[in-house]
Amino acid sequence: MTYRDIVEKRRAINFFDPDRPVREEDVKEMIEIAARAPSSFNLQPWNLMIVRDPDAKTRLRKHAWDQPKVTEAPVVLIVLADRSGWHTGHPTVEKNWKEMLASGKMMPDKREWFTNATRSLYTWSPNAETAFAVKNTAFFAMGLMYAATSLGLETHPLDGFDHEGVRKEFKVPEQYWVPLLLAVGYLRPGVEVLPPKWRKSYDEIVVSFG
Ligand SMILES: Cc1cc2nc3c(=O)[nH]c(=O)nc-3n(C[C@H](O)[C@H](O)[C@H](O)COP(=O)(O)O)c2cc1C
Repeated sequence: MTYRDIVEKRRAINFFDPDRPVREEDVKEMIEIAARAPSSFNLQPWNLMIVRDPDAKTRLRKHAWDQPKVTEAPVVLIVLADRSGWHTGHPTVEKNWKEMLASGKMMPDKREWFTNATRSLYTWSPNAETAFAVKNTAFFAMGLMYAATSLGLETHPLDGFDHEGVRKEFKVPEQYWVPLLLAVGYLRPGVEVLPPKWRKSYDEIVVSFG
């Protein structure tokens, strides 16, 4: 499949086959492909919870506007955006720093510059830290959907859920924002995917001011 084929094939699928499981290897591969996503300073502030257990999916559905696909899809990913993913001492930040030093991309005396740069970018407004986490995680989430398509899987992203309800139910620590849930599985046999939905045109997308 070319990139264009993948983009055109991906749809938000409403009806999953509850009887066709998704192989663990496929979920792993999907995550590893998506992990190639770009991120600010390569900080990769994303994590996932993989929900397969029927009881856990029922609990999740209760907080997700009772959307049937949450229990019908064999796998639902709780996508997590880590707002603390730029903090000094965070394991990924420290690993990233070591990797940058090892690759020669950074010199040890640049650490203060790095810390100040990330602090100024991700604290300049009350929303900046959440924006940092969510924008990077959104690229990762898009990658998950296209990776799934490339592996013959179907997906459905959802933000129709009670954020704090999901956080409490699944004991998600405060540092995370939950941008979306992602249902993963196969199309239910006999269900036809609706024709592609409209999209904004080039002229509607491109703007200028003043
Ligand atoms: C972040 C995000 C959240 C969404 N949340 C829901 C949802 O809670 N329930 C739903 O039925 N569709 C949801 N959708 C699916 C969109 O309605 C769908 O992607 C859009 O209509 C375009 O259709 P397509 O994905 O088939 O091209 C969501 C999509 C995204 C990207």
